[in-house]
Order: sequence, then structure tokens, then C-alpha cells
Amino acid sequence: MKKLLIFYFVTIAFVSMAQITIIPEPKQMSVFEITHVYDASTFTVNGVGKEAKQIAKYFENFILVNAADLNANVKSNSTVEFIEAKLETTNADAYLLEIKNNKITAQGSPRGLFYAAQTLRQILEQTHAVKTKAGNSVWIIPNMRITDQSLYAYRGMHLDVCRHFFTVAEVKKYIDYLARYKFNTFHWHLTEDQGWRIEIKKYPKLTQIGAFRSSTIIGKYPGTGISLKKYGGFYTQEQIKEVVAYATKNYITIIPEIEMPGHSSAALAAYPDLGCDGGPYKVQGTWGVFDEVYCAGNEYTFKFMQDVLDEVCKLFPGKYIHIGGDECPKASWKKCMECQARMQANNLKDENELQSYFIQRIEKYLNKKGKSIIGWDEILEGGLAKNATVMSWRGQEGGIAAAKQKHAAIMTPGEYCYFDHAQTQPEDSLTIGGFTNLKKVFEYNPLPENLKGAEAKQFILGAQGNVWTEYIPNFSKLEYQIFPRMLALSEILWCDYRRARTPKSYPVFYNKVLAEFKYLDASKISHLPKEKLEKE
Ligand code: ACM
Ligand code: ZN
Repeated sequence: MKKLLIFYFVTIAFVSMAQITIIPEPKQMSVFEITHVYDASTFTVNGVGKEAKQIAKYFENFILVNAADLNANVKSNSTVEFIEAKLETTNADAYLLEIKNNKITAQGSPRGLFYAAQTLRQILEQTHAVKTKAGNSVWIIPNMRITDQSLYAYRGMHLDVCRHFFTVAEVKKYIDYLARYKFNTFHWHLTEDQGWRIEIKKYPKLTQIGAFRSSTIIGKYPGTGISLKKYGGFYTQEQIKEVVAYATKNYITIIPEIEMPGHSSAALAAYPDLGCDGGPYKVQGTWGVFDEVYCAGNEYTFKFMQDVLDEVCKLFPGKYIHIGGDECPKASWKKCMECQARMQANNLKDENELQSYFIQRIEKYLNKKGKSIIGWDEILEGGLAKNATVMSWRGQEGGIAAAKQKHAAIMTPGEYCYFDHAQTQPEDSLTIGGFTNLKKVFEYNPLPENLKGAEAKQFILGAQGNVWTEYIPNFSKLEYQIFPRMLALSEILWCDYRRARTPKSYPVFYNKVLAEFKYLDASKISHLPKEKLEKE
């Protein structure tokens, strides 16, 4: 007992010196002087409400990792309770978390409770003590009160699984990372020139042929050599369902991207009639933008696209389907009699309008099925589809133009949101180029200065980090590219600094990132090393 008491006081001194930090920063967080010891062997976790019970289970699994001796059935004097309750706010992500006198209580909607669990995880990681001599795991936690809510409704991360493929287990891990930092959307880029990654039952060659390439360049484009190893992979529909269910449990909506009319070499290789000149086509083994695109004059293309989307819509319950729309060269359409005939018949004055025709026709089809489309900002060219949301990637201008036309927009400008860019100068690992360091992401403001009032608030839904994988051949490199930059994105999408307890400050955030590195290192998650971060 005496030993235990000594341990107790030493640890209290330690805990009160180290500040508890949360990423993303909560709206309000009070930390009081009074501290309690929470004994893992007497911890109970309860949920009040149907979904709250699931969240309690999720949370219990997490603390079991930290406290091998936790026994939830033991009669308790430390409790964690997740209570479904209506809070006085319309914010969909809000929660109230109180830590007081051996009782931890979270209140909010199920989604809010899930975010409370993420906050509490971070608190417990920072207050967890090693086993005492008596054999118990303890947490020494100050009384705290956190009221929290999100700033933006759309908080996204994207992943290209086409340039390089990631397994179901890896995609789930990626979803875990999104959940930890309160992202709510996973944009899954599933089709590309270099590989088609989603099983479509009606068109089996998409994965039999389209999911594999026979070569891949080595090194930076145009390459220092070429690997002739067959490369590829795809997700069966059963696997897609498994990932969707996993994301749902993590309060994350998946937006699948089926690219059209460009970036479609893999589909054309599988079904050459989809192209303007009948091919032959190949699944590409190098990076870039290719002239081989879906023919916009041939009805077969639309029949194919609709069939594919029928299966995609059944697999993904979310409201949005991303239809790509970026980087579609018009060379093959210019030479194609069918494409030119389509333009004449529909009074389309150029190939940009033909691209608009393509996207608008697909939009109508998806709208009838109760879905909405998102497209890269090229969909503004030649006339925007009626209900489309614009994803602004070539700067912020696309998002601004969309909002001015009263269309929703998601900001993902290359300079701030492309996590395939280099994070140091000169680059410390092979990347696609560019330069986007932690500080740049942190200082990004998704609301453009020249977009005022209601327009900005109503139409700019949020932002997203994009991860293109030409130079990300494995999961460890993927972690390295997103950590710590996604922490900065999480923070600016969640925290309203105008109302937070501290002003927005990069040096303060930098210290929070260093604290989070302890978690990343303990979990063996790769990240840019501390020495390579800007301090201020
Ligand atoms: C893009 O980066 N091509 C959207
Ligand atoms: Zn054509």
C-alpha cells in the first residue's frame, strides 16, 4: 500500500506537469487541479442507448489494449458512460465529456459520442501509468470538462488505390486513422489508367484484365528503368461491403470515385469498344495523362457507365458518387466521327461542351437513383451539371466559381491539401514534387477571403487531403506521407479558433504534434521525423 501511495504521488506530479493535448483541438476544455486514480481492474464501460452501447464496446476494446487486466464485469468504482442525449446545439458532431471524481461521462448523439471516445482515448493515452506494484493498471486523470463541436461538415481524406494497391486490412487501418482525428469522409479513388480496382459483376474483364498492368516504371517519371513484374489487385464486392461496414462503424462515409471520361485506360484495355478507335489499349505502366478516353459519341459507353454505376450505388450507401472529370484530353474526340456527330446533333460548340454533355447525362442518371455527383473542378468547363458538387484541386478558384453559381464545393487545392507532395525542401523521399509542409497545411483557410458571408458558409462544405500514390508503393510510405500533415488538416477542419481557448498558433500546434508522435511511435506508425518539421 505504501509503495502504491509513493507511486501515486510521483505520477500525479508528472501528470500535472505534462499538459494533456488533443488533436483536433476541442472547442472548450477545462482541466481542474483535482486528480483521481482510475484503476483499470475496476473500470466499467456502459452505453445508454442502442448505438451508445456499440460505442461503449468499441471503446472497451481500445482500453483493453492498454490495460490487459481490465475486467469489465468487476463491480466498479471507476466508470465510463456513453449516453445518447440531445445537446443544446444543431451541430451534428457535438459532445460533452466530463471527467469527475472517478466517473467519466460522455453525452451527445451517437456520432458525438464516437468523437467523445476519440478524445477520451487521447486523454487516457497521456494519463496511463504503467502497472503498479500491486499489479493494477491505473490512469491518473485530472477532472476535466470538454464541450466540443466541429467547424466544417465535410472533413475528408482521399486515397488512390490504383497507382498502387492497398489491401482491405490496410484500407481499414487508414479508416482507423481518419476516425482518430474525427474525419467523416473517405474518398476512395477506385479506377484509373493504371488499374481498375472494384469488381463489377456485369463486366468481369474490368478486373480480370483491367486490374493488372504488365510493367511499372522505376523511379521518378519518366523513370530510370522499367519493372516487368505483373502488378495489380482489386476488391471483390464482398470486400467492398466489408470496408463500407467498417467505415460505417467508424462514423465515416465512403465516397467511391469512378473516373470518367478520362483516366480510363484500364477500362478500355478490358473493353476496347469503350474507346474512340477500338484500340488495342493497355493498362498503363507509367504515370501521367493519357489520350485514350471513353468515347462520348458511342451509346455503348453510356450503357456501360450506367451498368457499372448500378452496381456501385448498391454497394455504397452514401449520398455522393465521385465521377472524376479531371484531366480528360480531347484529342481522340476531335478525330472521332461518332463524337463529332454527337456534338452536331446536340449543338455542342466544342469538346468541352461534349465533356459537359457526358457528365450531365451521368448526373441525371445518378440523380434519378437518389445520388448526387461530385467532380473535380474541370466539370465547370463547358457548363456545370445541375446539382453537382465541385472538388477544387487546381487552386481554390474552382470552389469559388462553384459557390458563386450556388453549387456546393469541397476545397482540396494542391498547394495545401496534396499529401503526395514533398514535405521538405529538397525532398527527403521520392515524391511527385511540389512542396506542402505541416505549417502550410496548418495555415490553410478553406474559406476564401473573397467569398463573403452566406455564400462561403453555405457552399464551402469543407476540405480534404488527397493522397495520390504514384510514389507511394507501400503502407509505411503512405503513413509517412500523411503523418503529420493530416493532423494539421484535422485541426483546421474541426477547430473554430475564433471560439477556442487559444488562438491559432503554429508553435503551439507543433508541440501538440510532438506529443502525438509518442502515440505514433508506440503504435509503430511511420511519420516525418521531428528534425524535419518547421518549429515555427
Ligand atoms: C487531380 O489531382 N488530378 C484531381
Ligand atoms: Zn469517340
